Formats: sequence, C-alpha cells, structure tokens
Amino acid sequence: MTRPLELAVVIPVFNEAANVGQLVERLDVALAGRCWEAIFVDDDSPDGTADAARALARTDPRIRVIQRIGRRGLATACVEGMCATAAPLVAVIDGDLQHDEALLPAMFAALAERPELDLVIGSRFAPGGGTGDWDRDRRGKSALATRLARMVLRADLSDPMSGFFMIRTQIVRDLAPGLSGIGFKILLDLLTASRRPLNFIELPYVFRSRAAGESKLDHVVALEYLIALYDRSFGRYVPVRFAMFSAVGALGAAVHMIVLALLFRVLPLRFLTATILATIAAMTFNFFLNNALTYRDQRLRGMRQMVDGWVSFCVVCSLGAVANIGVAAFLHDVRNGNWAGSALVGVIVAAVWNFALSSRFTWGR
Ligand code: GDD
Ligand code: MN
Repeated sequence: MTRPLELAVVIPVFNEAANVGQLVERLDVALAGRCWEAIFVDDDSPDGTADAARALARTDPRIRVIQRIGRRGLATACVEGMCATAAPLVAVIDGDLQHDEALLPAMFAALAERPELDLVIGSRFAPGGGTGDWDRDRRGKSALATRLARMVLRADLSDPMSGFFMIRTQIVRDLAPGLSGIGFKILLDLLTASRRPLNFIELPYVFRSRAAGESKLDHVVALEYLIALYDRSFGRYVPVRFAMFSAVGALGAAVHMIVLALLFRVLPLRFLTATILATIAAMTFNFFLNNALTYRDQRLRGMRQMVDGWVSFCVVCSLGAVANIGVAAFLHDVRNGNWAGSALVGVIVAAVWNFALSSRFTWGR
C-alpha cells in the first residue's frame, strides 16, 4: 500500500512550456515528504505546453495533464483542475513561477492543524508580502481592482485577487455549480459563491517577476473582471449578458446617428437611403461587438460562421425594429400621445426580442 494522497496542486497554464519543468522541480523540493500530485490544466496552448507536461508525466506519476480543446479561461481551468483530484486538499498556483511555492507547506500545515479553517490565501499585500518589480501603473490598477473587490465581498482580506491559495477540495466541489467562471478571479468567485462566509487566513509572500513567457492579463481580462463584479452585485436583477447586449445596442444607436449624419447631411443621400445604410452599419457594428464581448465565450469565427451569424443577426434585429415600431405606434394611439413613454417601451421590447432571438439563433449553437 502506498501512502494516501494528501494534496493536489492545480496549475492553470497557457503558453508556459518554458516554465513547466522548473515548476515541477520546485514543487518537488517544496513538498518533499508529502504525498502530492500536480495537475496542469492547459487550454491547448500553441507552444506545446501540454506536451511538455506530458513528457514529464511519463516518468513521474505525480504529474497529470488536463488538455482542454476549444475553451479558454483561467477561472474555469482552475475549477476543472480542482474537481479532478481525489486529494482532500487542493492548491492553485500560477504556472509561470511568479507565486512562491515555498509557501505551500505552511498553507498545508495550517489546514491540517486547524479543522475550522476552509482556506489559506497567499497574499501579496499582507505584512511581509510584496509585488516585486511592478511598475506604478500595474500597482495602481491592482489597488483599484482590490478596492472594488472588497466592496463587493464585504470581507476583510488584503488580496482578494490572489491566484494562489489552498482549500479543502470538498468545498470547491460543493460550490462549483454556482461559480460564474468568468475571467481570472477564481478566488473571488469561491468566496462570493459560498452562502456561509468561508473561514480563511492569509499568509504573505512576495510575487516574483516573470522569467519566461508573457502575462495573459490584458484588457479583455480586466473587462471580464468588471463583468464578474457586476454579476455578483446586480446580476440577479439584470443578467450580465443582457446588460452588455443593451450597452452595445446603445453604442449602436450612436453609430446609427453618426453614419446617418454623414450620409444625409454631408454626402448628401436621400433620407430613406441614408437611414437604411445607417441601420445596416449599426447592425453590423453591434454584431461584431456582441461577438467580441457579449458572446466572447461562444464567439463565431471564420468566414462562414461570421457571414451566417451576421445574416441571422440582421434578420433578428429587423424583426425587432418592426416590433419596436408596432408597439410604440400602438401605445401612442391608445395612450393618446405619450410619445416618449411609447417610444421607450418600444425600444425595451425590441431589446428583449433581439437579445432572446439572437442568443438562440445567432450565437446559440
Ligand atoms: N488554462 C489556462 N487558460 N491558463 C491560463 C489562462 C487561460 O485562459 N490565462 C492565463 N493562464 C495561466 C497562465 O499561464 C499562468 O500560469 C497563470 O494562469 C497566471 O496568468 P498570467 O497571465 O501570468 O497572470 P498575471 O501574472 O498577469 O496575473 C497574476 O496576478 C493576478 C492578480 O493581479 C496572477 O497571479 C493571477 O492569478 C492574479 O489574479
Ligand atoms: Mn503571471
């Protein structure tokens, strides 16, 4: 009989082939004497990260590889890795050597010795922690994101954005169905999904600078972060997707006005022709923006999908426009001339119509 498995270390990786080997070496040192496994969760990285991890796994049975095809996302990668282990404790650590694996034994000891603890968080902002060589810009953004997170969380923790923590695996399995899975913020997701406050402590560590590869934290990730916070605070009143769809729609209305002004006032075309062209421009703009943002997780790609999607989106929106006009005209008649109210109801009906049908026919494959 071998010793029972004590700990799993989940490592989300995307284009980290150059870091995989060294991370395993460091885990081997840090976790000497423990019975552990490492689970790399790779999203089919083009640089062959999964192959690099599998090459190690062939001679080291402590190493496992989950290779997801056609999916991207740090948070969902972490959740799937955490749910894939039989170990009672599970840690998440970045695959780029920026987190300090030497903290893992202290995290482990805290959870082993204190049954009332659910979670140990590695913190860059607790006394003794640090962010290494971050520039002012990144420090400022991180501070802002941290403040926002604490407002939503109403919990006193110094580093809610930490991607480095250890938790009892059963808690993750229990919470997994309720996780939003948006963006980078897996820890935030776990803390807010739990109905009872999770019992945690923070241990300080210094965030290292990246030696190989590059960060995937870009503007899309930052936007996803704001979306995740929105989802946690207002999502139950107005679903996040509908809110984004409506915001894109409002931008589309602005595009419509600008194009109309150019075609009708500057060129000038006939008003009807200009309006038809402005409508097509606005629908096209909305189609691309919704595809890139609102439906980025089920984005249409390639010529064929894009053309089909664009056509179905235009059909849906044209019917929405007819519904808009019909409802507004009807209300205007029965309510005797309340033009603004009638128009507003028409717009809302069209927005719900466009959203419902395009989510089904344009992006719902
Ligand atoms: N599977 C998978 N899929 N892994 C990903 C993805 C993805 O879409 N995006 C990023 N990763 C992996 C990276 O390969 C790396 O191992 C880890 O997740 C962290 O990603 P980085 O791109 O290096 O993030 P960072 O260093 O800029 O961000 C750090 O700070 C954030 C808060 O400021 C990380 O520690 C984050 O976890 C943390 O939230
Ligand atoms: Mn990193």
